[in-house]
Amino acid sequence: MEVVPSEQQPPLPYQPVTGKPWRLTMGLRPLPRHAWLEVDQHRERELTAKGDLLATTPDVVIGVAPGSDAAQRELETAIIDDLAEHHGLEVHSVARVDDAPIVRAARLVQEDLCLFERRGGTWEMTAACVCFPSRWTLSEKVGQNLSAIHGPVPGYAEALGGPVEALFNRLHPDRPVWRLNWTILDTNELHLPTPAARRGLHLPDDLSTMTFRIERQTLRTLPETGAICFTIRTYTAPLGELLADQPALAVDLAATLRTVDVEMATYKGWADLLPSLIAWLESPSG
Ligand code: HEM
Repeated sequence: MEVVPSEQQPPLPYQPVTGKPWRLTMGLRPLPRHAWLEVDQHRERELTAKGDLLATTPDVVIGVAPGSDAAQRELETAIIDDLAEHHGLEVHSVARVDDAPIVRAARLVQEDLCLFERRGGTWEMTAACVCFPSRWTLSEKVGQNLSAIHGPVPGYAEALGGPVEALFNRLHPDRPVWRLNWTILDTNELHLPTPAARRGLHLPDDLSTMTFRIERQTLRTLPETGAICFTIRTYTAPLGELLADQPALAVDLAATLRTVDVEMATYKGWADLLPSLIAWLESPSG
């Protein structure tokens, strides 16, 4: 069901495809203090969409574990302060009184928000408000640790499990980080909470109608509670329009897609798509 079709268009604010071979990497960069949250012309529309999802399917987009109140409140304050300080937005009062603090915070920003706290020797997701998941189900992840959350990602345990855990252990409040993830999907829908659809995308006749989707993710330690906030900001563009805007991308994208292994292609739902997508990207009209 289409609930929140994206109206975003190129150019995208980031271009993660370089033409290098596909590889699972941390790809972390230092996050300047002013650049935690991003506000753009789609804010009103996306916040309205969040409001609709929170009203109609709260169990799908909110997950809160007991004992996370202090961290949630610290996050809410940090977001209100940041919007005022770095975006000139004085915000209050959009919230419902019975909202959890992380939901109040999520109503203010286009980002999705997750909180992690150190429990039982690992980092667990203790609270989240995620309206625009890219083919995953929040209720399966709340209360889980990083390795369980990434269980479906082929190669994660071997390549990233240790480094991500080590990053969480050493992340300093004054040195937040960010990274990018990208994918290609058969829909411009922002709200994709069902993993089953990963298992094979619908192949359109016209590949230019597919959607290129970027997640800008940030990680920041909140100094009082020591909780770690993970934000996900989703940007999309129709693939054909992105290639028209950036013709060199076709070659780089084809080169990288050629190196994706079968497990990763299956996880991403690309198994049937890749041969035709690569051929199309490499054709003069692609
Ligand atoms: C530096 C930290 C992290 C790294 C390097 C990382 C890396 C990755 C990678 C490579 C994927 C596969 C995505 C794809 O190619 O489509 C993935 C998926 C995912 N990540 Fe992370 N991640 C990190 C932190 C987190 C955190 C803090 C969360 C908390 C919500 C998270 C939630 C997820 C989820 C839900 C998926 C999809 C899993 C599924 O299909 O069920 N990640 N991550």
